[in-house]
Amino acid sequence: MKSLVTGGAGFIGSHLVEYLLAHGDSVIVLDDLSTGSIANLGAVRDHPRFRLVVGTILDPAVVLDCVSQCDRVFHLAAAVGVKLIVEEPLTSLRANIHGTENVLMVCSETGATLLLASTSEIYGKNESDSLSEESDRILGSPLKSRWGYAAAKGIDEAFAHAYWTQFRLPVSIVRLFNTIGPRQKGRYGMVVPNLVGQALRGEPLTVFGTGRQTRCFSSVVDIVPAIVQIAESTRAYGKAYNLGGADEISILDLAELIIRETGSTSEITLVPYANAYGDGYEDMRRRVPDNALARELVGFIPRTRIDAMVRSVAQSLTTTVDRDDWIMTQAHPAPVASVAVS
Ligand SMILES: NC(=O)c1ccc[n+]([C@@H]2O[C@H](COP(=O)([O-])OP(=O)(O)OC[C@H]3O[C@@H](n4cnc5c(N)ncnc54)[C@H](O)[C@@H]3O)[C@@H](O)[C@H]2O)c1
Repeated sequence: MKSLVTGGAGFIGSHLVEYLLAHGDSVIVLDDLSTGSIANLGAVRDHPRFRLVVGTILDPAVVLDCVSQCDRVFHLAAAVGVKLIVEEPLTSLRANIHGTENVLMVCSETGATLLLASTSEIYGKNESDSLSEESDRILGSPLKSRWGYAAAKGIDEAFAHAYWTQFRLPVSIVRLFNTIGPRQKGRYGMVVPNLVGQALRGEPLTVFGTGRQTRCFSSVVDIVPAIVQIAESTRAYGKAYNLGGADEISILDLAELIIRETGSTSEITLVPYANAYGDGYEDMRRRVPDNALARELVGFIPRTRIDAMVRSVAQSLTTTVDRDDWIMTQAHPAPVASVAVS
């Protein structure tokens, strides 16, 4: 198989690329390196079946060039992270809506199959015990930038479904819940690398709000094989599948666990959301996945426990690749022009 991974220089994408190469695929990555990095691809960049194209999904010609060389596409490129979405709302909306439509359009022209990475964010403020794929979406005002990500990903799903309905484009959708692991960057607002970095540096762990909000974290190690299996199931075309963690944990309990697992002497500081993201910021009290559909389709069971995930993030933050994030630079590079670099 020849696979294209858009966003393959990012956190989840780079793990997916390693998995696909290990299973015999040839892989092209299309990434503008806005939040991803070449360092994330350090383990594969000299692989004979791997090629990186630095370019944007907003350029239809680049997308066509990459997709036309492949049998299947894993579309992960997106503006991700609350901080990035709030600070750069327009760039984020454009990448997440227009970029995705480019990918869908080109796949329908070339006949490549498509796997679209969506998100649990589309459920918004729905705090029910177990969110199934049919659950209602409860979103805040579109004038609050925070909801722009959920709105855009919802449009992406609607576009994908429309391409399936009207043109029979073989496209399936995964809704990822909070996925964590090595190479995830904290600088765009991701909670686990941020808290682990603070613990390792001996700084106070900054927990937003009351800290009683809960999430179900899953390991990238469990998620990546499920993404590939769903992409390979013809029964998944036109449908969406939740992929989330099994154990619900409050952010306060998570911070305490991180302190224990890293042996840190740090304390925990509660910080109002407004200090981080400005007035009017909204968050959801809990978000719990129902993984039944993915379990039935591909036997998905998230096995990695949260303490093991925290240990692997801590270990990665002290290696060369992730060290920049541990040191916590705030800046990130601007998108670069479209060129093939290997
Ligand atoms: N990490 C999570 O918990 C999570 C949860 C839900 C959904 N997702 C989805 O999974 C996918 C991957 O997320 P991630 O966590 O690996 O984030 P990431 O930021 O590490 O990866 C996104 C990648 O897309 C690239 N990119 C951004 N805009 C681009 C553009 N216009 N053209 C080409 N490349 C572009 C970035 O450089 C980066 O490498 C995204 O679609 C995201 O919405 C992630």
